[in-house]
Amino acid sequence: MTKVGIIVGSLRTSSFSKQVADNVAPLFPEGYVTEFVEIGHLPLFNQDYEGDLGTPAEYTEFRNTVKELDAVLFVTPEYNRSIPAALKNALDVASRPYGESVWNGKPAAIISQSPGALAGFSSNHNLRQVLSF
Ligand SMILES: Cc1cc2nc3c(=O)[nH]c(=O)nc-3n(C[C@H](O)[C@H](O)[C@H](O)COP(=O)(O)O)c2cc1C
Repeated sequence: MTKVGIIVGSLRTSSFSKQVADNVAPLFPEGYVTEFVEIGHLPLFNQDYEGDLGTPAEYTEFRNTVKELDAVLFVTPEYNRSIPAALKNALDVASRPYGESVWNGKPAAIISQSPGALAGFSSNHNLRQVLSF
């Protein structure tokens, strides 16, 4: 079974992104299993967590969850021509410590949405740029 983690960029209760994700998840073919991975509870990244403050338990749990995934599907809105802070925070958290990013080597796909005229183009573009690291 190929395990695909679905990460939704919006924390909003009635999020359109979450609704899109809910509808896409059942479309994966046989041989795939999907799992929603939560990001809203992660403390804001602070590099001091790599030193004096120690690693928050939420970080360790999140990194371990991502590590177990075979692939990741991001479903995100556009915020101010980029991705929401909660999503960037999650990407930063699991990319550290330096050299130990648990995103490395994982295939990823992006769905962006916005009721705006460009339908989340810029968040898609920005997320690709972040993932290139
Ligand atoms: C802080 C903020 C910034 C936004 N910036 C943009 C934007 O730059 N471009 C755009 O098309 N929509 C923008 N929107 C609209 C959201 O993309 C839209 O409401 C989206 O559906 C929210 O996603 P959600 O329904 O999953 O919560 C913004 C919304 C918020 C709250």
